[in-house]
Amino acid sequence: MGSRKNLCKMKYWKKLHSHFKAVDKLKMRDLFDKDKNRAEEFTIQFENMTFDYSKNRITDKTMRLLFDLAGECNLSEKIEAMFKGEKINITENRSVLHIALRNRKNKPIYVDGKDVMPEINAVLAKMKKFSDSVRFGEFKGHTGKKLKNIVNIGIGGSDLGPMMASHALQRYWAKDIKCYFISNIDGTACAQVLNEVNPEETLFIVASKTFTTIETLTNARTCRKWLVDELGEHAVSKHFVALSTNKEEVAKFGIDTENMFEFWDFVGGRYSLWSAIGLSLAIAVGMENFEKMLDGAYAMDKHFRSAAFEKNIPVVMALLGVWYNNFFNYKRYGVIAYDQYLKYLPAYLQQLDMESNGKSVDVNGEDVKYSTGPAIFGGAGTDVQHSFFQLIHQGTDVVPCDFIIPAISHNEIGEHHEILVSNAIAQVEALMRGKTEKEAADELVKAGKPKGTVEFLKKFKAFSGNRPSNTFVFKKIDPYALGALLAAYEHKVFVQGVIWNVDSFDQFGVELGKQLALRILPELKGDLHPAEHDSSTLSLLKIIRNYRK
Ligand code: F6P
Repeated sequence: MGSRKNLCKMKYWKKLHSHFKAVDKLKMRDLFDKDKNRAEEFTIQFENMTFDYSKNRITDKTMRLLFDLAGECNLSEKIEAMFKGEKINITENRSVLHIALRNRKNKPIYVDGKDVMPEINAVLAKMKKFSDSVRFGEFKGHTGKKLKNIVNIGIGGSDLGPMMASHALQRYWAKDIKCYFISNIDGTACAQVLNEVNPEETLFIVASKTFTTIETLTNARTCRKWLVDELGEHAVSKHFVALSTNKEEVAKFGIDTENMFEFWDFVGGRYSLWSAIGLSLAIAVGMENFEKMLDGAYAMDKHFRSAAFEKNIPVVMALLGVWYNNFFNYKRYGVIAYDQYLKYLPAYLQQLDMESNGKSVDVNGEDVKYSTGPAIFGGAGTDVQHSFFQLIHQGTDVVPCDFIIPAISHNEIGEHHEILVSNAIAQVEALMRGKTEKEAADELVKAGKPKGTVEFLKKFKAFSGNRPSNTFVFKKIDPYALGALLAAYEHKVFVQGVIWNVDSFDQFGVELGKQLALRILPELKGDLHPAEHDSSTLSLLKIIRNYRK
């Protein structure tokens, strides 16, 4: 991304710091009272998605300064650089082209002078052919039975994307197909799935960009052995396919490369749902629905690339995140989905965001002097209202949140959805408004509490409010809407990476633990190497060896 002025020295960064002092004193309640058009002013409509960001600690001026900061960071040029296939992943010298995977108009995108679209289209066509043939029972198992259990074996981006999206789109699954996901190296993860499925009806999809990831390869070997024990070596070609960038390793593992669906190093693991990594999803929901998801993402890509910053959902999401992270010092971020089908969305976004922007060295190789990616967590409403929302409302740390609300449920049963939606709207209102001590006291008086009790309890029952949130409202969570939503988050993360001047597309931070685990593995059984460890590590090894005796 080239050398750039330090963020802290930028004109609009400094202006935002001075402006912050004024905004910090403002109450959102008052801002809403003063300006009846606030909601309208701070809402962006994108097709069937409404993004209301009016319940944030912002004024017009805040947004103007944030947009100017984005300009000062050359955001428009950076966006173009990504879409044009420039090698913006500078530490790995790679293009970043998940957008090419859903480039539905097929305009050429060049990497090293070669248009990547023909290869992408060929893999999509191969996915269609294969997913149709599994769904319609033409591609059968070794004993001639229909493959009804689809087991994706992968981890990180090779698991979370398809796992989250298949749950999100469960209503679109073929009636007689079930998806399973094995990611954790914990043998229990394998055992739980293998206990449920019948080898004759099971297709294993080994998903690994590198095809060297120890968890995935160990799980895949265990599943392969289980299948071979049951059906014999000849069954493998009918029950195993691979999704990878690494043909050699796929062949070495014992999967025919004819049964391999390729993707490329310009697709980051956590951005790979749109590639062959989505094969389990495509089988479950059908390629037509998979392509609708690509269409939704493509629509968001176009919006991101062309909309003015003021009307650009990912840009606004990202700048608000910077505003809280770097000016208010809010280091956590919540994502609350009021849709049971989206229950894994926070886990997916955790990897997307934290693996991308959990960095402390900038693209110039300098230590950053400001904080970068926040800790992301979340869950499904209303469940989380009964777990961590106490802290969200009254804790000392403020956690800005995104609330995701579909207006229509896939399961309109009785009053369930009305209650769900009213809770979601109530939460964002409560976070913004809070409850003053006076309001709390009045309520206690009204409930007939004695004066002493009122005086004692009113402070406990008050809510500071002024807690920020964004609200996404969708008509319904369908493949298209899901695609658009996920792409919005991807671009949010990209924009924040640009502002923080980090490479959002490498993940060296996951390496050290992997290296040490390889060194420690033989020590669980064999000789210990005390000189290589601290006393705690050594003692943990000894304790575990003792328990395992
Ligand atoms: O956790 C590190 C990581 O490299 C992720 O970025 C990636 O999604 C995951 O491991 C799995 O990698 P692979 O697809 O190569 O098995």
